[in-house]
Amino acid sequence: MTFWFNSDRERGRIFAEAFARDLPDLPFIMDATQVDPDDISYVLTWTAPPDLDRFKNLEIVFSIGAGVDQFRVENLPSGVKLVRMIEDGIVRMMQEYVTLAVLALHRNLKAYLMQQTEGKWQALPARQAADRRIGVLGLGMLGQAVIARLKPFGFPLSGWSRAPRQIDGVRCHHGAESLASFLGETDILVCLLPLTEETRGILDARLFAALPPGASLIHVGRGAQLDHDALIDALDMHQLSGAVIDVTEPEPLPPEHPFWRHPRIMLTPHIASVTQPGTAARSVIENIKRHRAGLDPIGLVDRTRGY
Ligand code: NDP
Ligand code: OXD
Repeated sequence: MTFWFNSDRERGRIFAEAFARDLPDLPFIMDATQVDPDDISYVLTWTAPPDLDRFKNLEIVFSIGAGVDQFRVENLPSGVKLVRMIEDGIVRMMQEYVTLAVLALHRNLKAYLMQQTEGKWQALPARQAADRRIGVLGLGMLGQAVIARLKPFGFPLSGWSRAPRQIDGVRCHHGAESLASFLGETDILVCLLPLTEETRGILDARLFAALPPGASLIHVGRGAQLDHDALIDALDMHQLSGAVIDVTEPEPLPPEHPFWRHPRIMLTPHIASVTQPGTAARSVIENIKRHRAGLDPIGLVDRTRGY
């Protein structure tokens, strides 16, 4: 039995130390050519390595990220479990990023930065938090964590999921039939959905039209959920007033892409949240211990749902 760390060496060193300390009986490697492929039981990786079939005794593929769409779960050998990353570092960073983005939109930060470059000293109309409704698409690990962090600001909060959810102080909606009513009461929409066949392209012209005029978007899910042309149109027609975009398709965007220079878009290079090796190693080790004890790992992906 061997654990194969298939990612960058810097994070690998931190993982190796944690494994040596907390799981010393499990050999840890960063180069799969060092061992017989039959020895590998676990791999931690961002995408499925090519020819995964040759690891005949593979039991678990651990995703280094919280999202798992990049694996194409239907292509993984059927007996192999796919486990997404659930660790405090990802959660904390996403809470910071979405809070930053909500406050930047709420307080017109982009417009003030542009006014600064023009040497213009002018107050813009301000809205109170109680009058700015935040709606979160996706009420999973990250959606709920973000909502918890936003609560003290006093924004009215709502969310949308597939199955019904109950969260204290949050108007919860679920299912395709309730999407329009959820959108109709959302001034800042945060997308924290996994990419699946159901959510691909969900941020489209129809969805933007269902938001109140002047609403804005924070997109931190996956690039393929967003129709770029529809976003530009919605901004240019003033249906939307601003957008903070962290994920795009493709990544990186080509240099001529309009998102780079749009006056109402703030763009970041998929950095909202990054797996932190110390906390991630602890989470993977705990999951291997659970697996050895005959329990399901935390974050086990449901192959039929795709997340
Ligand atoms: P979870 O699996 O914990 O939660 C997903 C949520 O989305 C659930 O509430 C689920 O509903 C809901 N959902 C899924 N499909 C649908 C649908 N068809 N209709 C309505 N609701 C749906 O995921 P996380 O919160 O951990 O992560 C969300 C995504 O964030 C990741 O998949 C990844 O793509 C992205 N991400 C981006 C990062 C970045 O840096 N930009 C970093 C980390 C993650 P239900 O509760 O009913 O199951
Ligand atoms: C993730 C990501 O899924 O960084 O963790 O996007």
